[in-house]
Amino acid sequence: EKSGYDHFMLKEIHEQPETVRRCITGRLNEADVHLDDVSLTAEQLEQYNKVYVVACGTAYNAGLVGKYAIENLARVPVEVDVASEFRYRDPIVDENTLVVVVSQSGETADTLAAVREAQDKGARVIGICNVVGSSIPREADDVIYIHAGPEIAVASTKAYIGMITVFYMLAIYFARKKDLLADEESKQLIKDMKALPDQIAGIIDNSEEKIKDLAAEYAQNENAFFIGRSVDNAVVQEGALKLKEISYIHAESYPAGELKHGTLALVEEGVPVIALATQPSVKEKTLSNVKEVKARGGVVTGVVFGGEEELEDLDYRFEIPETSEVLTSILSVVPLQLLAYYVAVERGCDVDQPRNLAKSVTVE
Ligand code: F6R
Repeated sequence: EKSGYDHFMLKEIHEQPETVRRCITGRLNEADVHLDDVSLTAEQLEQYNKVYVVACGTAYNAGLVGKYAIENLARVPVEVDVASEFRYRDPIVDENTLVVVVSQSGETADTLAAVREAQDKGARVIGICNVVGSSIPREADDVIYIHAGPEIAVASTKAYIGMITVFYMLAIYFARKKDLLADEESKQLIKDMKALPDQIAGIIDNSEEKIKDLAAEYAQNENAFFIGRSVDNAVVQEGALKLKEISYIHAESYPAGELKHGTLALVEEGVPVIALATQPSVKEKTLSNVKEVKARGGVVTGVVFGGEEELEDLDYRFEIPETSEVLTSILSVVPLQLLAYYVAVERGCDVDQPRNLAKSVTVE
């Protein structure tokens, strides 16, 4: 059932073009998003002065991308919280808060408890889930299914891509209902979203061999750092989690500008640093952080928009094709997933069943 792949994780990475295609099918027309599963009126949306996203692990990291998308397009403040914190800290939530919970399995104990906590406080809860008919979709007020199909590897890949795809659709849906997104802008975003499946496939095709070489070099290290700004900062959190959980390399991610406030002290000769610089508006800033890393001997891999020549500071570079600035996360995470996978293989790790971890965490 691995369809010729060595591991489920690799199979699931390769399924991601299809995951995005299935997730958007029937939900996008020329200028609008249709979410049959969500029935919010423009008046209800106006009434929400805050969105709270609650989840664990990779689903939490997807929520960080969701924050950028929703704030950027729908102009409402979004707070992202880890479910095990949210449920015990008497969160400030009421009927004017929209709570979005995210869970692949739909069974994570802390996330389910967060649904109940939010509903007790009068909030409406939207669930973004994969497993149909699981507990969270049954209890949430609205459900948007990812439709990624079964995810077997413990380390989540295609579910993450599905979750962020849903967040982008939700953000466009909110923005259109609130009259914040002009027809032309919306059409462009939707056109770009429809191009994503082929673009993901292209990234896998173009980068996989090169990533194997890079993995052989990075696999020798016990530490790695990931940096990025804006939405790239959300994506590097997922990149670091993936590397850590399956390769057991100590990986940390930081907003690029934070590096010099402490962590730069750990960068010395040969330390791997993965820098995402996909956002034209802050690219120069990230590249100046790359220079600081290079000056201390770090080995830098960059994930950047294609066709840029002035990136001589990068030791390795992966290009992602042109898309709307807000959407890059769906593309930029792919080389990071492949990197984690091939480093783990290189280190002889049990990729699909990492030590101490379970696919579904139904106890707290
Ligand atoms: C990481 C991973 C975990 C899960 C987390 C939440 O690759 O798989 O961090 O993302 O346990 O699980 P769900 O999404 O099922 O609530």
